[in-house]
Amino acid sequence: MKETIQSLKEEVLQKIDLTHNLKEINELKVVYLGKKGPVTELSNQLKEVAGDKKREFGMLLNDLKKELNEAFLNKLKYFEEVELKKKLESEQIDITLPSTKILVGAPNILEKIVEEVEEVFLSMGYDVVDGPEIEEDHYNFELLNIPKGHPARDAQDTFYLKDDEILLRSQTSPVQARTMIESGGDKPIRIICPGKTYRRDADDATHSHQFMQIEGLLVDKNVSLSDLKGTFDVVAKQLFGPSCETRLRPSYYQFTEPSVEMDISCFACKKQGCNICKHTGWITVSGAGIVHPNVLKNCGYDPSIWTGFAFGFGAERLAMLKYGIKDIRTFYQTDLREVSTFDRLEGNLDD
Ligand code: DAH
Repeated sequence: MKETIQSLKEEVLQKIDLTHNLKEINELKVVYLGKKGPVTELSNQLKEVAGDKKREFGMLLNDLKKELNEAFLNKLKYFEEVELKKKLESEQIDITLPSTKILVGAPNILEKIVEEVEEVFLSMGYDVVDGPEIEEDHYNFELLNIPKGHPARDAQDTFYLKDDEILLRSQTSPVQARTMIESGGDKPIRIICPGKTYRRDADDATHSHQFMQIEGLLVDKNVSLSDLKGTFDVVAKQLFGPSCETRLRPSYYQFTEPSVEMDISCFACKKQGCNICKHTGWITVSGAGIVHPNVLKNCGYDPSIWTGFAFGFGAERLAMLKYGIKDIRTFYQTDLREVSTFDRLEGNLDD
């Protein structure tokens, strides 16, 4: 009996030694220590052993069970550790690998231009004001001295939403009218209103059915064209550099009298003449003028007391000049390659 136990022990320990993984050791354990295994069988035989030998045999059997259990447990632990190590190694993150490049967004180029212009005007005490894009004919045209049937409406044909009265605003000028009416006719005004505008134009390199204007209005006493010129001069130098010169040329708008076009000296050729300025040395960037007395009156300001100037920049035009963009459609076609070109110009991308 003693020998049987001894040789069983050696056999099991040897087999434990030869196992390769968790699965094998678990299977081996069932074979030897399971219900139908040799150790259980020996335990069953214990009953038949004669009295004096029973005690010794019982002790040997207990030792065997203890030793084998321990041996199995140790090997199990060993394999568990090996597997854990393997898993940790295989799941290790290689921090030396270059990561996937994350595309970072950047502000829209038009928003940037608007913000730049806003900053200049805010520094001169202007407020930034919003107005509705869906506008009434009354504000978009009538109050601005453009009655129904006036030929000036042809150039600003737009999209009508309801009869002839509700439309997509063709200019930001109705915000002037709204602000004057809200002000009650007795306070000076200094505002700019950037925003989207719409016209029924066929899209081409210089026309877009949607575009952006930055309108400005100043109402006070004794306002003259020289105030407009001085203001424009400050803005132009801030946007296009200190050597930028400005000039006003006569023009015609229904809501201003006199009306002017405001030009900047060509920043590309310094007035020598080039493609950008069409060889004139000057670039037109804004329409403007002294607010027409009818507009003041229509909007509750007494023209014998109050005067003012107004102007309108095209945001796309400013951006096209500043960034050398050739086609206005670029802003609205959401082509990521174009967008990232702008970002690169601004130094937001590294390649
Ligand atoms: N609203 C004009 C346009 O769309 C631009 C403009 C010209 C605005 C003169 C003004 C202004 O406020 O005084 O063509």
